[in-house]
Amino acid sequence: MRKALIAGNWKMHKNHLEAIQVVQKLGYRLDPADHERVEVVVCPPFTALRSVQTVIEADHLLIRLGAQNCHWEDAGAFTGEVAPGMLAKLSVRYVIVGHSERRRLFGETDEVVNRKVKAVLRHGMTPIVCVGETEAERDDDVAEDRVAAQVARSLAGLDPEVVAGLVVAYEPVWAIGTGRTASPDDAGAMAALIRSEVATRWAEAADSLRILYGGSVNPGNIAGFMAKRDLDGALVGGASLDPDTFASVVRYWV
Ligand code: 13P
Repeated sequence: MRKALIAGNWKMHKNHLEAIQVVQKLGYRLDPADHERVEVVVCPPFTALRSVQTVIEADHLLIRLGAQNCHWEDAGAFTGEVAPGMLAKLSVRYVIVGHSERRRLFGETDEVVNRKVKAVLRHGMTPIVCVGETEAERDDDVAEDRVAAQVARSLAGLDPEVVAGLVVAYEPVWAIGTGRTASPDDAGAMAALIRSEVATRWAEAADSLRILYGGSVNPGNIAGFMAKRDLDGALVGGASLDPDTFASVVRYWV
């Protein structure tokens, strides 16, 4: 049984004071039964991680902490970068790796993503590995090939027992922040393709790996994605910034 996972990617929003308020409010709105059903993760900017960690611990919240990126080396002369071990020390459980904004705006390739995935795992955290086609790739009918290649290259060299614990987020680039979503059928079909791609290389891992959909998820459309057999949750951008809205996404069955 794969436990549902709904993660909020705050991107470059919320200073640490705002972040404290959001996580406290979210904590009030969710009850233990919600957390039984869904693993809830928030991924604030680096500057808010310590504050959010403190709130989670002080208030005994069941919300889990995630980061949005990290470097692949453990330490070194990499001005402006954050090492994976620094995140692990802040009780970070999940790290988003290879988000399309990092790929597109900061030049991250599948090879870089692969190094980051290994670095996150080395420090005992779980990568949320993002894949997804652009609009042009979808129009050219190469979306499936593109996503399959991203999965294979981003996870290259990993052992099956490691792949089993990973999270892959399918985020079609054209659906991010646009208000357009993949249909639940299309997203579910792509999730099935990702699972079968994983099965060809890491047979034992395919059933346990969790696959999320991301791209304009909101309280009104989440249930459609959650109903798909191969989708185990969502990676939510804009709709995770407001605690009421995000709580409604998490409680998608209500
Ligand atoms: P939106 O939910 O704002 O479309 O963002 C999706 C996303 O990029 C999550 O990582």
